[in-house]
Amino acid sequence: MCGIFGIVGSKRKELGRTLLKGIKRLEYRGYDSVGMAALDKGKIKVKKAAGAVDKADKKLNFSELKGHIGITHSRWSTHGGVTDFNAHPHQSCDKNITIVHNGIIENYEEIKSDLIKKGHKFRSETDSEVIAHYFEEKIKQKPIKQACVDFLKEIEGTFAVLMMKNDEEKIYALKRDSPLVLGICEEYNILGSDIYAFSDRTDKAVFFDNDEFAVIEKDKYQFYDTKGKKITKKIQTFVWEQEESLKEKYPHFMIKEIMEEPRVVKRLLMSLKTDQKDNFNKFIDMIIKAEKVIFAASGTSYHAALLGVYYFHRCSDVCGIEAQALIASEFEHFANVDSNTLVIAVSQSGETMDVIEALKFAKKRKAKIASMVNVPYSSIQRMSDISLQVLAGQEICVAATKSFVNQVTLLLSIAKEFGFKINLDTLSERIEEMLAKKDEIKKIAKKIYKNKDLYVLGRGLSYPVAREVALKIKEISYIHAEGMMGGELKHGTIALIEKGTPVISLISNKDYDMLSNTKEVEARGAKIIKVTNEFDGDIKINTSNDGKFGVLAAIFGQLLTYYMALELNLPVDKPRNLAKSVTVK
Ligand code: M6R
Repeated sequence: MCGIFGIVGSKRKELGRTLLKGIKRLEYRGYDSVGMAALDKGKIKVKKAAGAVDKADKKLNFSELKGHIGITHSRWSTHGGVTDFNAHPHQSCDKNITIVHNGIIENYEEIKSDLIKKGHKFRSETDSEVIAHYFEEKIKQKPIKQACVDFLKEIEGTFAVLMMKNDEEKIYALKRDSPLVLGICEEYNILGSDIYAFSDRTDKAVFFDNDEFAVIEKDKYQFYDTKGKKITKKIQTFVWEQEESLKEKYPHFMIKEIMEEPRVVKRLLMSLKTDQKDNFNKFIDMIIKAEKVIFAASGTSYHAALLGVYYFHRCSDVCGIEAQALIASEFEHFANVDSNTLVIAVSQSGETMDVIEALKFAKKRKAKIASMVNVPYSSIQRMSDISLQVLAGQEICVAATKSFVNQVTLLLSIAKEFGFKINLDTLSERIEEMLAKKDEIKKIAKKIYKNKDLYVLGRGLSYPVAREVALKIKEISYIHAEGMMGGELKHGTIALIEKGTPVISLISNKDYDMLSNTKEVEARGAKIIKVTNEFDGDIKINTSNDGKFGVLAAIFGQLLTYYMALELNLPVDKPRNLAKSVTVK
């Protein structure tokens, strides 16, 4: 959460525009406020305001900032409300030090009270501001590089920090647990929270590892370890499809990304036979060697993992792969992990802090780590023993759509290797057919968007999908939705069903139990929306395969959510309070 971006060596008049472009590319990481700092002729100028980038830019005109060095930040608030003062950058009392920060300084209260005793005045309620004052104080006694060493030793918490000084044409960059990457360009150097920040400018990057800092200049850079010893880092060349970050003819990224699903599924399946073939085989081998598999994931990725468990358990008639899925933030409380366990992280961003923490826990217990990530070169990918790429391409809408479809396709491809019966070659075609039902789905959306509560019911494979559909509806349409096991409803929640309460029922094949659960709520006046491949229903799904049903029913939910949000006139791609990449615990 929070995007940070910096450049050293910009053309003077282009600085503001470059910072603006850079931070817009990272805005999906948080859009509560935005700010910039530019160093020009020995003076740092700061502009910042609450609101998303376009709104703040209208007010402040960021493009007019000049200089050769600048840093910028888009915020997802943790400590302190959404205000102009709490927006980054933050400055020291003497305004010599200016910083932007992504992460949480856990011991900030302690540090702050110490600094206040020394006479420092704070202007914001954030934890981040202490960083600027901390360095102001430190550099009174020692060189800034030594202060960076102290920072790594004394600061508790997570951080990606970019720091400028009035009198130096450099950016100091420090990292622990929050993502940070250096992009190497011919005439300048760029820093960003991820490679999207600069993938339009260079394909060469150096990834920061934990507890490192670097001094970045126009035409050179140097990394240091915790002791301040110089380290040499590898330059990675990455491949990126540029056209995916554009909205093209679509009004929102969400619908554009849903419409890309048939294409990205094909691309993934092809890669598993070509580029990713060796890795795929190694992945299968690791599953064979493990005594059990535990998935660690959050949100939508958790729902994909839960579907994975269902498919893995059904790989053969006798007994499938021993698998379990845990929500990453609770992993250490519920996982029983040892050296015979394979932990599979599922993550779109590859940066979700809860998942990273789960993997650290598993690593300590000597488990093998595998992952499925969409954003290449992400932290989760880099901390895995093996990783498969989800290949959904850049997903900009906060709601995960095409990445979910490809996560499930990848899990189905693995399950197939172990005997799960499915013809994946026709999946893309089935998705096209589902997307062609968009007008039918729009009509359903128009009927239910005014309701305050709704329920989505599933059983077996349709249970994770029910949860996923409900999550989409909550985050994008702001309607309270519960995704439930059909059989569990009668144990309490059925008390909430009133005349007219919408209940979406996902029924795959001859699931008569699910049909009975649907009848039970219908008898109590619920407005039923039946999504089925077997019975009469509101949406007919054209597949008899349970694997494909899961994917197609989820796509129904994505479209339904999108059209409800349109009816409600909501900010589809940037829902309130959320961010695409959740890098706090
Ligand atoms: O990047 P990840 O897949 O690890 O993210 C996990 C969740 O934060 C994410 O799926 C979230 O639930 C989405 N906003 C759902 O649409």
